[in-house]
Amino acid sequence: MTVQAASTPASQLRCIACGAIAAKAKADFRCPACGDLLEITYSNWSTDPAALKRIWLQRLTSTLGLDQSGVWRFRELLPSLDARSVITLREGNTPVYEMPRCARIAGVERLYAKHQGMNPTGSFKDTGMTVAASAAHAEGFQWVGCASTGNTSASMAAYAARGGMRSLVLIPEGKVSWGKLSQALDYGALTCQLKTDFDGCLRVLNEVVQKMPVYLLNSINPFRIEGQKTAAIELLEQFDWRPPDHVIVPGGNLGNSSALGKAFLEMKELGFISSLPKISIIQAAGANALVRTVRETNGTRLISVHAETAASAIRIGSPASWKKAVRVLQLTGGAVEQVTETEIALAKAEIGADGIGCEPASAVTLAGLKKLVQRGFVKPIETVVLILTGHLLKDPEFTLKFHRGELFKRDDEAKILRAQQRAPVVLDATADAVIQTLKAQL
Ligand code: F0G
Repeated sequence: MTVQAASTPASQLRCIACGAIAAKAKADFRCPACGDLLEITYSNWSTDPAALKRIWLQRLTSTLGLDQSGVWRFRELLPSLDARSVITLREGNTPVYEMPRCARIAGVERLYAKHQGMNPTGSFKDTGMTVAASAAHAEGFQWVGCASTGNTSASMAAYAARGGMRSLVLIPEGKVSWGKLSQALDYGALTCQLKTDFDGCLRVLNEVVQKMPVYLLNSINPFRIEGQKTAAIELLEQFDWRPPDHVIVPGGNLGNSSALGKAFLEMKELGFISSLPKISIIQAAGANALVRTVRETNGTRLISVHAETAASAIRIGSPASWKKAVRVLQLTGGAVEQVTETEIALAKAEIGADGIGCEPASAVTLAGLKKLVQRGFVKPIETVVLILTGHLLKDPEFTLKFHRGELFKRDDEAKILRAQQRAPVVLDATADAVIQTLKAQL
């Protein structure tokens, strides 16, 4: 069974700064007139939310690949592409979990996590990649490329392989977790470890795509943003179209917060919802470019930082989509917050103890929520959704080091974390030894 689109939207590329319309993107996805980022806008959207809600639900029982994708299921709000060009791994369709213990820890009554780590390659990147990689495919590219802290590269390599394209990965040497690097290798990417950080990799890639026929798949590519919007649409559907009060998201290069914000704003404009959730963005204190930009310049000028954090996915000093993210903060009334390395590690273990688990970058959301509650920005009676961006198994080294007590050397830090640590116990191979260890825990 297939369910046809209600109507196919016409889309165009518009510069976020000067408003110039670009018929086709340049290789670096920058505005030809002023060099700023582009976004996709639509001119003939269906304006019948009730009909679309019905169609989207019907697709849940369809056997068509496009309908089974949790991204393409919402294709009426995406750029239209020939179905034959679409590369899908049945991405999206991610669960929303109740987080009762974390709720008590943070001091709110209703806390949920939308786990984007449950995507095919283990991170939210898949939702954007299916759209942007399909656009590359439709344009006939043989090669795609990205700079990455790990997850983008894993996702891109998978979608490129599925679409019969080659992929070029630029990652900072020694700063990407083995879980993610191994994915890029297995999916057949040409993987280059550069002696620089993520920001340096992005600079190099920018030059490469202007000199070689390689299609850029970082989140400055606006097709990525359109795909990532669908997590917000799916979330609203899962909440029966009653938006939560707060959505809390980690901030790295700031594509994801921009995408979720764009989705909520569009859903309101189209009449799917009547109020907006406040979107708050949390960064590691060691990679806090957006936090400083908002606090020190009121969001008018980017303050780049030298980024350092064990949450390697968000180890980014000069976020490309900062202007889009500032706009989302302003339009939804969200906040920014920064959290320390100890706070991230603790929050990650607490999410794990709720039976969910995530990678370190995702855990900044819970750590940030605690602070937003303390400062009164989030009220205990409000409904909060954390966006968990990556799977627990993405960064097993971090988790093992944490539980073995090897992550922090300072006594005060180690003390805060000890209660959450569950190091493996080495025993003689006897039932007695196991029983004694078990009894000590009863
Ligand atoms: N969480 C995870 C697990 C990520 O991998 C990233 C970004 C973010 C959060 C931040 O999202 O950049 O949209 O603000 N990872 C990138 C990568 C940059 O290369 O995989 P953002």
